[in-house]
Amino acid sequence: MLIRHQSDLRPSEITSRQSYLSRRQWMAGAGAAFLTAVTAGGGAKASALGTIAKTAYTIDEKQTSLEDVTHYNNFYEYGTDKEQPAKLAPGLLKPRPWTVRISGECKTTASVDVDDLIRTSTLEERVYRHRCVEAWSMVIPWVGVPLAPLLQRFEPTSKAKFVAFETLSDVAQMPGERSSLIYPWPYREGLRIDEAMHPLAFLAVGLYGEALPAQNGAPIRLVVPWKYGFKSIKSIVAIRFVEQVPPTLWNALAPEEYGFYSNVNPTVDHPRWSQAKERRIGEFLRRPTLMFNGYGEQVAGLYAGMDLKKFF
Ligand code: MTE
Repeated sequence: MLIRHQSDLRPSEITSRQSYLSRRQWMAGAGAAFLTAVTAGGGAKASALGTIAKTAYTIDEKQTSLEDVTHYNNFYEYGTDKEQPAKLAPGLLKPRPWTVRISGECKTTASVDVDDLIRTSTLEERVYRHRCVEAWSMVIPWVGVPLAPLLQRFEPTSKAKFVAFETLSDVAQMPGERSSLIYPWPYREGLRIDEAMHPLAFLAVGLYGEALPAQNGAPIRLVVPWKYGFKSIKSIVAIRFVEQVPPTLWNALAPEEYGFYSNVNPTVDHPRWSQAKERRIGEFLRRPTLMFNGYGEQVAGLYAGMDLKKFF
């Protein structure tokens, strides 16, 4: 993310969509996308992971191909190139057995086995937009469980103001973690507790009806669709309820570039590139980026009264 962003831009993408659509048409287009943001689903389907329920938290947009979802990845533990995670992670990462340690400011502490979680949960499919801070995006059918009910099981105390997440720390399984001179491994992320408890916050254990591929963060990763993709931490081994803002990898490296909140916001540019538009992987023309990645109706209330330019 700190590198290679310029080479991601193709000359064909520089012609803006607004330059041939009038402002009014563009606004109408954005509005239509917003209205279809959440559609009611229904029914269930069988899969390798068991029965998967369809939920209301699904968008009706063309899904990015499985090939792109699984071969154009950011997973710096396997290198900084988009193709490296698919080449390296499946041979190195051992996603079973796997437990997630849940601790901190809560009444009960536990290690949750991922297979137990899958067996004892109603898995849901959620088709979400996925918008990287590098200005590319995808639409991905995730399979998993909402985060809030899992967190509530451990009865966070009134001191639990934030939730901290941590990726596996193991250079044998994640060779990129050797270069600790640049990156303060392990990968860490965090949310405010009310963000973590929002119904859209999701723990994915699969995509396209199958178990999560190693390169997408097997066996369990966070998905926070209204925030830039780097908040959606992969291969989680620890979740902690904490009182203070937890340190996070990208924010620690470059706080002026990667804020703690990192809500998708087309009006707040990255210091080195615009966030007004994005390249939907598989599409030719760039499209306008939507406030909160199109989930404003659901999440804007979390930030009422906050200056989103200051708390970016
Ligand atoms: N989690 C870990 N542990 N390591 C990473 O490098 N990259 C983040 C996020 N989670 C990353 C991570 C970034 S920048 C993005 S955009 C998404 O994962 C990419 O998820 P995907 O490869 O499934 O599209």
